Amino acid sequence: MKRNKFCMKKIIICILLCCIISTPVLGISNSLTFQENISLPGNEYYLPSPQFIEMSLEESIMRRASMRNFTDEPITDEELSTVLWSAFGLRNDGKMTIPEINNTHAVVIYVLLEDVYRYNPMNHSLILYKEGDYRDIVGWQYSAPVQLCLCWNTDIADANFGSTELGCVGQNIYFAANAIGLGTVITAEIPSPISIIGLPENESGMGVMPLGHLEIDYNFKYRPMLFSLLPRVSFSDTSLTTVLETRDEVKSWDNNTMSRVDLSYLIWSSYGYSYYLDESNSGAVERHHTVPSAHGYYPFRIYAATKFGVFRYIYGLYNIDRWGLPVVSFLLAVKLGDKRSDIALATEQFVSDAPLDIIIVLDIDKTNKWDDLSNESMRWIWYYEAGAAAHNVLLQATSRGLAGNIIPVNDKESICSLLSLNKEKFDPMLVVAVG
Ligand SMILES: Cc1cc2nc3c(=O)[nH]c(=O)nc-3n(C[C@H](O)[C@H](O)[C@H](O)COP(=O)(O)O)c2cc1C
Repeated sequence: MKRNKFCMKKIIICILLCCIISTPVLGISNSLTFQENISLPGNEYYLPSPQFIEMSLEESIMRRASMRNFTDEPITDEELSTVLWSAFGLRNDGKMTIPEINNTHAVVIYVLLEDVYRYNPMNHSLILYKEGDYRDIVGWQYSAPVQLCLCWNTDIADANFGSTELGCVGQNIYFAANAIGLGTVITAEIPSPISIIGLPENESGMGVMPLGHLEIDYNFKYRPMLFSLLPRVSFSDTSLTTVLETRDEVKSWDNNTMSRVDLSYLIWSSYGYSYYLDESNSGAVERHHTVPSAHGYYPFRIYAATKFGVFRYIYGLYNIDRWGLPVVSFLLAVKLGDKRSDIALATEQFVSDAPLDIIIVLDIDKTNKWDDLSNESMRWIWYYEAGAAAHNVLLQATSRGLAGNIIPVNDKESICSLLSLNKEKFDPMLVVAVG
């Protein structure tokens, strides 16, 4: 009897040990563990609720930086859930966390883990798309535990509008990742390596964003510019999650005025410099822009049109400054008088009623410094950046209690003529009407 009891004990211990050893095989301590391991029919897995990100929008924008070296440490379900919801999540009011571009959404996100999943924002789940680990092939530039593939539906949007929307998605991924201690960078190649996973015929891959824990942590020092001709931007009480939950698109405004402070926040968010100096990259000191830029070209000009005139945003004269001294930002008058109805003729009628129209114009000559990205067929790369800048403005508007809309420029020639720009050398891409 004693012997039998001893045997039973041994068997139970063996079973327990087997369970512990086999859990990674069962996927329980994999890089992805689904909520209570519920597997829906058709290999669909619910993600847990996203974390609430307390960091203010302004701080998130100032901490945006491209990070490229990641550890092997897995991303938790909660972290992945937070980043995906921020990227292109469904809100409580039925809207998405990014605005519609051209009145539609065309975003598709594939999530590369040990297998390939497609993110379903409608019920915040991952659907198994394909078995097999494609992370190091598709995301060959930077090895990371998760690779996010940003794609768009070609039945719904062309490459330019698809990339504009993905620019909004990319910003949210940068902000959320940074706020929860992860890192990322938008990467894009021609042709896109995303096609290796075998996309449906009506989808196209635009960019890959590795997501991981950082080998060397963020190292930011708060150094606002000592001199600024525009009112200072400070951190608000509005959290990133609140802004993502409440951003609204409007086409009419109560009044026709825009305060200098609001104007300063909005224009800064589009393309300004961070107030942080970044020393994360082995001694090099950088001051990041509020958006990323392919090859760091930063080829855009930003204009602000109010009832008083049209002004060019000079976002800084230098960017290498340890002490924050030489970066001076200001608005340069280009045309005096109310020109908003001219901008409306080139875009949409309601633009003329907005207290502020921000015009995002590509300076084509600045897109070919050492790798020529100036060709019309490459314009989608720049639409990504324009979309990122425009999205920042809408988020910043939300934080200031304002709202707006992103409108593509139909009549580019008229906008060039208004801004006295050579239409062969400049491409006005988007207008953000806000108030
Ligand atoms: C459309 C686009 C494509 C990019 N492609 C790559 C890329 O393939 N590889 C890379 O390391 N960085 C890429 N970047 C990131 C830029 O190099 C980076 O934004 C720029 O150097 C500025 O640095 P920051 O984002 O840290 O401020 C890309 C950025 C954009 C907007």
